[in-house]
Amino acid sequence: MVSPLNWLLGLFSLDIGIDLGTANTLVDVRGRGIVINEPSVVAIEKKTRRVLAIGSEAKEMVGRTPGNIVAIRPLRDGVISDFDVTEQMLHYFINKVHEHMLLRVPRPRVVVGIPSGVTEVEKRAVNDATLSAGAREAYLIEEPIAAAIGADLPVADARGSMIVDIGGGTTEVAVISLGGIVVARSIRVAGDEMDEDIMNYARQKYNLLIGEQMAESVKIECGSAYPMETERTVCLRGRNLISGLPERIEISSVELREALRNSVGIIVDTVRQAIDETPPELISDLMEHGIALAGGGALLHGLAERLSEETRMHVYVAPEPLTCVARGAEKVLENFDLLHKTLASMQRGSTLH
Ligand SMILES: Nc1ncnc2c1ncn2[C@@H]1O[C@H](COP(=O)(O)OP(=O)(O)OP(=O)(O)O)[C@@H](O)[C@H]1O
Ligand SMILES: [Mg+2]
Repeated sequence: MVSPLNWLLGLFSLDIGIDLGTANTLVDVRGRGIVINEPSVVAIEKKTRRVLAIGSEAKEMVGRTPGNIVAIRPLRDGVISDFDVTEQMLHYFINKVHEHMLLRVPRPRVVVGIPSGVTEVEKRAVNDATLSAGAREAYLIEEPIAAAIGADLPVADARGSMIVDIGGGTTEVAVISLGGIVVARSIRVAGDEMDEDIMNYARQKYNLLIGEQMAESVKIECGSAYPMETERTVCLRGRNLISGLPERIEISSVELREALRNSVGIIVDTVRQAIDETPPELISDLMEHGIALAGGGALLHGLAERLSEETRMHVYVAPEPLTCVARGAEKVLENFDLLHKTLASMQRGSTLH
C-alpha cells in the first residue's frame, strides 16, 4: 500500500527509470526522456577512496591512470561488485537530475532494471544503493521486461514476445507473456567478452598487446557476426610483446569475425535454447511477430541476420536499442497502475521517510 505521505509527494514527484548497466548507466526522467547516458565508471584515489570523477570523464582515465588513481567499473557481469562505489555513482546521477529541477520537488520514485538471474542478496544491494542514493521509493524490474517495454512489445498481453538484450556484461534472452517471464536465459557473455576476444586474438596472432578501449572501438567500427557486403580493414595500435615497441597493424573484418566467433556462437546457442524451451503456442506468436534485439551488442554488424538465419525467424534491432531498458523502466512509472499489477517480476523496496 502507498502511504498517504507518499501519495501526496507523488503529486509533485519526479519519476525516474534507471538502467544500471555494466557498461553504461542511463537515467530517463518522466516527461523529459533520457537525461543521463554515461559510462558506469568511477575514478577513485586509491589511498583515501575519494571519488575523483564519474561517468565519461572517468572512462577516459581507464588504462591511463597514474598509480594512485584507479578507474573502476563497479558493476561487472551485470551485478554490483563494489557496493560503495555503485552507491556513490547512483547518488551522483540521481542528484544531478534532482538538482536541475526548477522547483524543489521531493525525492524521486525510481525504477531500476536488474538482470534476471540475480540473487536475493544482489537485489537487496541494488535496492539499498538506490534508496541511500536519494530515492523516495525504489522498485526493481527485471531488465528483459524493461527492455521489452522500451522496445514497445505488448508485454501485458496474452501473446509471446521475445527480447534479446545484449549488454556489456550480460546477454539476457526472455520470452514474455501476460506480464511475466515464461522462459529466461541469462549468460555472462556480451560486449565485454567480445572485447576480450579481440584482445586475445591480437595477442595470439600478432603478439600485439592492445587495451580494452582499442578493442571496443575496432569491434564497433569493424566487428561483425555475418559476412559483410564489402569487407573492410581497421588499424590496431598497441605494443608488440616481443620487441616491446609500439606497433600498428591492419586487421580485416574477416579476422575480427573469426575473433568474435566464440562469443557470437554462445549468444546464438542461448537464443536457440530459449526457443527450444518455449511452449508451442508462444512459438507461433514469435514466428508471427519476430524477435527483438536490444542493448549495445544488438548493434554488432550482421547479428540480426545471423540470428535470423540460425532461428529461421524474423529478427530485428529495436529502435534505439541502447536506451530500451531505461525508457522501459520509466514507462512503468508512467503506467504504474496498469503495469504494477501485471508485472510479476517487479518488486518494491522498503521506503525511507
Ligand atoms: N555499434 C556497436 N557494435 C557492437 N557493439 C556495440 C556497439 N555499440 C555499443 N556496443 C557495445 O554494447 C555494450 C554496451 O551495451 P549496453 O549499454 O546495452 O550495456 P549495459 O546495459 O551497460 O550492460 P549490461 O546490460 O550487461 O549490464 C558495450 O560492450 C559496447 O561495446
Ligand atoms: Mg543492459
